[in-house]
Amino acid sequence: MKNFIFFNPARILFGKGQLAGLADEIKRLDCKRILVVSGRGSVKRIGLYDKVISILKDMGLIFFELEGIHPNPRLADVRRGIDICKRNNVDFILAVGGGSVIDAGKAIAAGAVCQRDIWDYFAKRYEIEGALPLGDILTLAATGTEMNGNAVITNWETKDKLSIGSSHLIPKFSILDPEYTYSVPKDQTVYGIVDIMAHVFEAYFSPTPNTPLHDRIAEGIMTTLVENAYKVLDNLKDYDARANIMWCGSMALNGLIGTGKEEDWATHDIEHEVSAIYDIPHGGGLAIIFPNWMKYVLDEGVDKFVQYAQRVWNVQDNGQGDREIALEGIQRTREFFDHLGAPSTLKDYGIGHENIDVMAQKAVRFGPIGGYKKLYKEDVANILKMCL
Ligand code: NZQ
Ligand code: ZN
Repeated sequence: MKNFIFFNPARILFGKGQLAGLADEIKRLDCKRILVVSGRGSVKRIGLYDKVISILKDMGLIFFELEGIHPNPRLADVRRGIDICKRNNVDFILAVGGGSVIDAGKAIAAGAVCQRDIWDYFAKRYEIEGALPLGDILTLAATGTEMNGNAVITNWETKDKLSIGSSHLIPKFSILDPEYTYSVPKDQTVYGIVDIMAHVFEAYFSPTPNTPLHDRIAEGIMTTLVENAYKVLDNLKDYDARANIMWCGSMALNGLIGTGKEEDWATHDIEHEVSAIYDIPHGGGLAIIFPNWMKYVLDEGVDKFVQYAQRVWNVQDNGQGDREIALEGIQRTREFFDHLGAPSTLKDYGIGHENIDVMAQKAVRFGPIGGYKKLYKEDVANILKMCL
């Protein structure tokens, strides 16, 4: 294991009725002028938005509203939010929604106080110098953004989807009430489950040896996710299934299972290039790419794939050999995604080979990607061709 510092100050208010704690959380931060960020209407339809606004009004706070954040959130909306903050001396961001809304909120929080143009921090990788404090009410289990310092934003003019990461962007608090995820439709629920599984893969398939605790936590998240995925698809309002999936989402990407390890993240980098051009859901893209990435890198380290197959999918050793066991684990992953109804090829989104070269080039813009196996432009193109 490598040396590490683990620091995660996000306060999590988890469970039914935790919105009741919102006023106290805001009071603790002593903020007075709030920007409320939300998406394209789901939080209004479930009655959450009105409740939040009435809490802010009861507190006598001044607030501004930025609605309409798109999935795969856009730089133009982030700029709108930064402008509102600067013109009105906003001192706190409250994001109400899924990962896209929270990520947009984080980018706004950074852009409101940082010296340079916000896109420079994504495209030129400058270090984030600070950010307004941000709290959120999460309505979709997927990204882990509620408990990490990352934000992913798309510049639609240049077709670049890039991320920033900083401890300044870790939410001061996140309210996670699984009941607010009951209304997430089946397809988005599935994309969320795939995304969570993918975050575990990115940390689990690592070249760093001897991390048995990390591995077992990761395997616990994966098996919990699989069990509860079937339950939630049977009943989208199964509280325990929604709650377990939601907590899996936070645990998968709050830094814990990646501590002291070299992580991979190649599949995410590749997926971001696909959604930057085609605007597909992040989890849908991951469901297509991950099993193909697994096959592509398998021979770099078969043992970890054997462990994965046996511990997560109960693949039995019947003397078929390690490589066959590993391949069976990959096949079981594909079948799980298929069973959920996730897409399996780029064709499912009408995507052909036309932009493979561009996507492969952009994926390696900062150098080769991946930790399990270093991937160069040609490797990325090969994986994308396997996805066609
Ligand atoms: O626009 P609204 O009306 O809010 O509807 C959203 C959207 O259409 C809807 N939704 C959210 N909560 C709902 C709901 N519908 C009904 N009931 C609810 N309770 O779901 C749709 C998708 O929402 P979105 O926020 O885009 O989904 P998700 O949470 O999966 O976020 C995806 C974005 O996060 C990035 C992805 O790349 C993508 O841009 N990621 C962020 C990460 C991070 N910050 O750490 C890591 C991830 O790997 C990922 O890259
Ligand atoms: Zn993801």
